[in-house]
Amino acid sequence: MSRTSILVMNGPNLSRLGKREPEIYGQRTLEEINNGLVDAFPEIRFGFFQSEHEGALLEKLFEIEDKGGWSGVLLNAGALTHYSVALRDAISAVKVPVVEVHLSNIYAREEFRRKSVISEVCTGVISGFGVESYHLGARAILGLVGKA
Ligand code: DQA
Repeated sequence: MSRTSILVMNGPNLSRLGKREPEIYGQRTLEEINNGLVDAFPEIRFGFFQSEHEGALLEKLFEIEDKGGWSGVLLNAGALTHYSVALRDAISAVKVPVVEVHLSNIYAREEFRRKSVISEVCTGVISGFGVESYHLGARAILGLVGKA
């Protein structure tokens, strides 16, 4: 059996983790979160992609779909979660499983964050467990590919 591979995609403002509203998003930087995944799941091959740009996230999704080789995507789309129909359509257009993750519990926050336009087209949603949301997402993908 080939090794499970997960592309961790982060959208706008997630490059600022560690500095950005630590009371909501925690103290850890994105690099620390990514390294934590590699340490916790040595059996998984990880790739990492972050962009402040909606289109770059779409292009990355299409690129990995066309090239193949990825078991799943962990996606924290940041604010795009709440309004990007373009991102929703891109997720719909690819076969690779996409698991939506959020550090904060978007359903316990401001009204405008309580709606995700991407959830319906994602395989599942994990929200509110801080850094652990990414780890739970990785476990979910292992489960999806039958390795958990
Ligand atoms: C977030 C929640 C979003 O509402 C917000 O815009 C983010 C981060 C989270 O991880 O909790 O940028 O996706």
